Amino acid sequence: MKERTIRIPVPDDWHLHLRDGDVLDVTANHAASRCRRAIIMPNLKPPVVTVEEARDYLERIRATVRRPSFEPLMTLYLTDRTDASQIRKAVQSDHVFGVKLYPAGATTNSEHGLTSIQKAKEALAAMEEEGFPLLVHAEATDPSIDVFDREKAFVDGDLDWICQRFPKLRIVFEHVSSRHGVEFVRSESNRMGATVTPHHLLLTRNDLLAGGLKPHHYCLPVVKTEEDRQSLMEACLTLDNFFAGTDSAPHPRSKKESHSCAAGIYTAPFFPELYAMAFEHRFGAPEPDLESMEGFLRDFLCVRGERFYGLKSSAQEYMEIRRKDQQIPDHYPFGDDVLIPLYAGKTIPYTAEIIAPAP
Ligand code: NCD
Ligand code: ZN
Repeated sequence: MKERTIRIPVPDDWHLHLRDGDVLDVTANHAASRCRRAIIMPNLKPPVVTVEEARDYLERIRATVRRPSFEPLMTLYLTDRTDASQIRKAVQSDHVFGVKLYPAGATTNSEHGLTSIQKAKEALAAMEEEGFPLLVHAEATDPSIDVFDREKAFVDGDLDWICQRFPKLRIVFEHVSSRHGVEFVRSESNRMGATVTPHHLLLTRNDLLAGGLKPHHYCLPVVKTEEDRQSLMEACLTLDNFFAGTDSAPHPRSKKESHSCAAGIYTAPFFPELYAMAFEHRFGAPEPDLESMEGFLRDFLCVRGERFYGLKSSAQEYMEIRRKDQQIPDHYPFGDDVLIPLYAGKTIPYTAEIIAPAP
């Protein structure tokens, strides 16, 4: 009889959106039910720009989370006005772990993002000097560029420029979604990591567009071709600078199922299960070798991100991921609306649970 349970330290999520206000209770507790640490994205309205704002947001998250061992790792939103002194304050703080670059207009709540990469020269130079990570939403915003080519255009343009101009800057290529992006990260491996989402590993543009438009499969960067998906799988399985970041991004149903569908897919309440589901085919599904998959998932979910960010590992709690069916809820409460997760109402083949250490 083959092993049916994977046991790993509680995973980390290196790219997560929690929002704020009356929905924080739902989103933060979902995250805390599956992860130990999470890099919290700063694209609130208004964005989290200063170290003090990040501290206040952290306190609001802490006040609402019912699992005290959950550790939010805060980030700042890079604007045209971010200067070297703000970067140095972030470096000296004990709660900010990176700065997020959104090209203005690229995605949800990016209106305050960079209008030109030139405006960030001072901040980037300070970050390079301090060894402080830059987290990048790597999509061009020129409306004439095909939506499916926007990652490539950003890589060949602004990202290449940043890399040449700041050769030591540490960079996380967030939610990499294309073969071209994967190849670029590979070529910069000495100082660049990449987050990979469960949905970019599980879905292609057929799942978004074929047989009717699926708003709950729409995110940015948009899911791409099978070739791109395979290239992401391969990179995760073979390169140790590719790690888990869900980009779980909650929106109310009324904003998703609307004439201008908001970008974002919600996966936080069951993300370790989704990664197991994405990779099981490479480990012999329908009877996967869970022992080998355990070694890989430990690396991908628990080890590589922490190494990239230079954080300490002190796992106290463990997670068990069982090969056991789980029914995904149709929806979750979300303020005065509801939140529809990926695979709402469907059954997935894994179930995860945090196991507290013996007292
Ligand atoms: C994210 C969101 O909703 O905040 N949306 C998304 O489609 N991924 C923003 C982002 O990470 O691009
Ligand atoms: Zn995101």
